[in-house]
Amino acid sequence: MRHVCVVGLNWGDEGKGKIVDVLARDVDAVVRYQGGANAGHTVYIGDVKHVLHHLPMGVLHGGILAILGNGMVIEPRKLLEEVESLPEEAIAQIRISDSAHVVLPHHGAIEKVNEESASSPIGTTLRGIGPAYQDKFARTGLRMGDLVKEGFVENQLHDFLEERRQVLGGTEEGVLEAVKICTRLRDRLRNQIVDTRELLNRMHDSSGKRLLFEGAQGCMLDIDFGTYPFVTSSSPSFLGVGTGSGFSPRKVDHVVGVTKAYCTRVGEGPFPSEIHGTEAEELRQAGGEFGTTTGRPRRVGWLDLPALRFAAELNDLDSYALTKADVLNGRSTVPVVTAYRRGDEILNVYPGGTDDLSGIEPIVEEWPGWDSVDEVTMKPFMDLLEKETGIPVSILSTGKRRDEVCLFNPFTAEGELA
Ligand code: GDP
Ligand code: IMO
Ligand code: MG
Repeated sequence: MRHVCVVGLNWGDEGKGKIVDVLARDVDAVVRYQGGANAGHTVYIGDVKHVLHHLPMGVLHGGILAILGNGMVIEPRKLLEEVESLPEEAIAQIRISDSAHVVLPHHGAIEKVNEESASSPIGTTLRGIGPAYQDKFARTGLRMGDLVKEGFVENQLHDFLEERRQVLGGTEEGVLEAVKICTRLRDRLRNQIVDTRELLNRMHDSSGKRLLFEGAQGCMLDIDFGTYPFVTSSSPSFLGVGTGSGFSPRKVDHVVGVTKAYCTRVGEGPFPSEIHGTEAEELRQAGGEFGTTTGRPRRVGWLDLPALRFAAELNDLDSYALTKADVLNGRSTVPVVTAYRRGDEILNVYPGGTDDLSGIEPIVEEWPGWDSVDEVTMKPFMDLLEKETGIPVSILSTGKRRDEVCLFNPFTAEGELA
């Protein structure tokens, strides 16, 4: 087993950061392939909380390359903040794709206006993600590689941004500020903005190098396969690895899908297993379900098997990493949505496509609960999950800290990746 991909199976915030951190100790590079500072990935090392937005979790381990792939959109100020919070040895391990796009001040401004004027806002993170991808696909974007072209920042960046400002709006001060911050980013990371597609493929060629791909968001927020239009603007599913990194997904040996033992969603859009009222508030408080990036209270609901079956197929999933089961400690039974009912029809799999999910009612079953989380107490629940969805649990997170995890039957009998 060499290359592994970790993806979110729900609507984001499944605990991907924690799982990637656990697996990263055994790899040579961790790679983000989509999204940007809309992501907020958390791990606790001891009792110290670390939150990363652009950088993959591996950056917190010594000696591992932390690669920001071409599919990402990068907000210079936020990235610099993240970089500057790290020790020099970790900073030296960062590589950024020269084809990754740059999020500019007007992207955030446009998004704010769009959200405020929409009759049905998406509830985005307001990090300029959608408008930055719009510029990418309109072929009018700025790429990280532009910043390191000889003389570009000195002679052309201002005019480029000013031209965009005249089309899209914004202030002259905003342009001057963006020039300043892009120059700082260029100066800080000049030699680390490279062709990461080439780098990843050479790492694959040279014997024994192992790669870990870290999805951001979750596959129910996928631009193509999520609950459109209430989605993000990239491809968080495993299918995004190829175009987002330039590394063939055929070379990835194992896809781990992260799911909580219940579900959450931030922002608007369909959420079939959602619960409300006191029950929801208790779960939100117990799980600390407040957005890592925006601080917004997360909507909460029960584990959704039709959505998991859909996610398993979409991501060609090999195994689950199950997180946050400890939040449900002490319940004699745990509610699980096993199917949806629509009129007389029973749906076992989330319908996907352009289905608007209206009129869907979740069918809830009570599964055996637990008082504490370990491989023995969770066995009945994990066995049922495998029986119902066909996918085994390979990683059980037993708490928020780095060391609170059980790895079983995962990659070798010894519990190692290779
Ligand atoms: P990500 O975006 O998928 O990386 O997830 P977030 O970091 O946004 O949100 C997950 C939250 O759950 C973080 O605060 C983690 O520290 C926490 N977490 C992860 N795994 C567990 C777990 O097994 N138990 C508990 N109680 N918290 C966890
Ligand atoms: P991580 O990587 C949860 C949601 C937003 C909104 C929609 C579109 O931490 O799991 P965007 O700003 O991307 O245009 O917003 O997607 N969203 C997330 N929800 N976790 C995330 O990232 C998210 N990134 C975006 O709330 O509904
Ligand atoms: Mg998050």
